[in-house]
Amino acid sequence: MPYVGNIEDVKWVYDPEEAMRKGSPILIDTPNLEVRVIVLPPGAYPPYHAHHEEMDEGYLIYGGRGLILNEGATFEVSKGDVLLNPRGAMHNMKNIGDGELIEFNFRGGRMPSGFLLPEGDPPPNPDPESVENPLAPPVPYIKGDIAGLTGPFDAESVKEKGLARAISTEYLECQIVSFPPGGRPHVHRHLNTMDEATLVLEGRMNFIIEEETIEASVGDLVHTPGGAWHTVHNASDAPAVLFNFRGGALPSRTEWRRRRRPSVGAVREPSLHQETRTLAVADRPQCLPEAPVPVLKRDNHGGLSLRSNSRILGNEPFLRCCFYRHSGECRNPEQTRMPNRKTTKKNNKAKDKFKNKVPGFRHSPE
Ligand SMILES: [Fe+2]
Ligand SMILES: [Fe+2]
Repeated sequence: MPYVGNIEDVKWVYDPEEAMRKGSPILIDTPNLEVRVIVLPPGAYPPYHAHHEEMDEGYLIYGGRGLILNEGATFEVSKGDVLLNPRGAMHNMKNIGDGELIEFNFRGGRMPSGFLLPEGDPPPNPDPESVENPLAPPVPYIKGDIAGLTGPFDAESVKEKGLARAISTEYLECQIVSFPPGGRPHVHRHLNTMDEATLVLEGRMNFIIEEETIEASVGDLVHTPGGAWHTVHNASDAPAVLFNFRGGALPSRTEWRRRRRPSVGAVREPSLHQETRTLAVADRPQCLPEAPVPVLKRDNHGGLSLRSNSRILGNEPFLRCCFYRHSGECRNPEQTRMPNRKTTKKNNKAKDKFKNKVPGFRHSPE
């Protein structure tokens, strides 16, 4: 089901014991993408940790004020900031405000993400406020109101040029886009080796994914599995702002649905006029998934070196979506085929294999 929940219903208040015992709840949990919404109470900070080198981690600070400690340097973040951790860098974040710090956390690449603790028994966990090394943010980082990143939406230009990305790496990309009333892109799908998700930041938006239509509003999180035909439509009379992100095999390659002559056996294009379904609170997931925690030793996988291929593109026009436009066809139809039971089974198998193969990983504490 594409609808994941509203932040207010699915956010998880950080509990150190629970985090170490079973990890933080993962709201979207696929071999390509993991999403969490974590609330740090005032003064709380999770263990100082790093992730492996085949994934990237990004944050949207949804509310509150925090101090990030990253490889020995600290810098402050607050509501509306979007940032990317340098790959392999040790980090943690403390709530330095009086209220909740709400962290919208997304990871893309090889999952499960897991984490590595520093050497030592018990592993050191410095309080970011005790570190006197304030520096300019050493990470690809966007400071300020997310509204400042919002670009005008135009379906044709999106089809030609793609959207400006706030963050773009080989594993993770995100963008913030505003849709005027009536705005909608053409129906499209992405590779089934990546997953896409969207958080509604302002207004109301209809998500049409395969045969399902979801009317989403502020705080709603929607998951579009790789390979699914989808589009969005602002049917309201006010602008809507979306935070859209993707994880897995990137750059994301988009196949636009041809309106005429649909191929035999293709999934029917979802109608924009079908009745929308507003999810009642009772439909929303109240209980979060639990998973066993493999407690394993640190290994020598992935040194903690910083790689430079993660970069920020800001509002620079992005051209990857043109990839298919030149030929008019998907270059590798195998890669964009619809997910089937066999593929899902294979993905899960690959995920388990990876989980068992790589020692030193635990479920994330944050
Ligand atoms: Fe992390
Ligand atoms: Fe999409």
